[in-house]
Amino acid sequence: MTIFQAPKGTYDLIPPDSAKYLAVREAIAAPLRNSGYGYVETPGFENVELFARGVGESTDIVTKEMYAFETKGGDRLALRPEGTASVLRAALEASLHKSGNLPVKLWYSGSYYRYERPQKGRYRHFSQVGAEAIGAEDPALDTELIVLADQAYRSLGLSGFRILLNSLGDKECRPVYREALQGFLRGLDLDEDTRHRAGVNPLRVLDDKRESVRKQLVGAPLLRDHLCDACKAYHEEVRELLTAAGVPFEDDEKLVRGLDYYTRTTFEFVHDGLGSQSAVGGGGRYDGLSEMIGGPALPSVGWALGVDRTVLALEAEGIELRLPASTSVFAVPLGEEARRALFAVVTGLRRAGVAADLCYGGKGLKSAMKSAHRSGARYALVAGERDLAEGVVQLKDMESGEQVPVALGSAVEELGARLV
Ligand code: HAM
Repeated sequence: MTIFQAPKGTYDLIPPDSAKYLAVREAIAAPLRNSGYGYVETPGFENVELFARGVGESTDIVTKEMYAFETKGGDRLALRPEGTASVLRAALEASLHKSGNLPVKLWYSGSYYRYERPQKGRYRHFSQVGAEAIGAEDPALDTELIVLADQAYRSLGLSGFRILLNSLGDKECRPVYREALQGFLRGLDLDEDTRHRAGVNPLRVLDDKRESVRKQLVGAPLLRDHLCDACKAYHEEVRELLTAAGVPFEDDEKLVRGLDYYTRTTFEFVHDGLGSQSAVGGGGRYDGLSEMIGGPALPSVGWALGVDRTVLALEAEGIELRLPASTSVFAVPLGEEARRALFAVVTGLRRAGVAADLCYGGKGLKSAMKSAHRSGARYALVAGERDLAEGVVQLKDMESGEQVPVALGSAVEELGARLV
């Protein structure tokens, strides 16, 4: 029989590398937990309409990349391609916004699905940790989120990333700009597809990576010059707060995100060691999304950081995370009676909070010691019949190779003391 393989564009997280993913998720979550964000978890699939309305009918995510399907019961669902629409839906459904305590701050961690062309850093199943602050319009909140992502990356030891910042305007000034841009684009010699895009979402044309298009875009009107006074003042305040917080950023007036719900502040974290899939995270303000999915006006802001790409960024910078040892003590029983005795010791160690493991399967000394080495344990506990008859176990220091007998009854204490 052929062995099954993970589907195209997906991969498994396997020890020891999987520990890095857990550590990255933890590092991103820690500053959020410390800043008033509560954990939220939503289903892996939603009504397809939520994403169509929320993320936008004209986006690649909705038109090309969604895993949409009809259930046997006739419901039209989609695997979630992103988290913001779901989290806002959940907050509205639970009436969190009515608690009188705005903004509602939530963080999440999970799997997302996009039917994209797979390449390094771009997968069909990937993982994000995200944060959403719902129901407040305050430049300090936008800044808080950017500062927390920066803090998370720095806590991992990353330094090769840059923060790109832009404002996409609001419902007052963006339509005016949109028209000006469309007027400009109509005068260009564009292919059919791009002309169509200019009709539905002209801002996305600015993001075209093709040299032939880029050349034509020189001189295109910039949103920066069309922002209304309120948007300008808001953006300036975010920039000043970031500067005061000591978080460097680059103004990037061509930054357009791949989701339609953004207004005002938008940003992306890019890493220079990742090649074409350089965005390790991104986000922004989405003041109109709640109304688009049937809720009240709830100006909000958030981001999601890609866990897969963050791990690639760590590798690109050659950063080895200092991960806690998965096994500190490895017990090697030689014989039945020793297995019972050491099983009790290992149980005692674990209850005392020491990471311990036992050699299973009745292996001989040589192969059991190989397992002990492979486990990365600092100490091995070896016991045979003769040791038990004397009421001891042999405690072996795996670094120095030194071995001393320890009374069976005090092995847990002795190891606990040595491992502090
Ligand atoms: P996004 O920019 O689409 O934003 O995704 C955020 C991050 O997820 C990206 O920067 C990237 O690191 C990772 N990512 C996206 N697609 C893939 C993929 N195919 N393979 C690997 N990694 C990927 C959002 O999803 C918004 N919901 C962010 C947000 C939250 N905006 C406001 N609140």
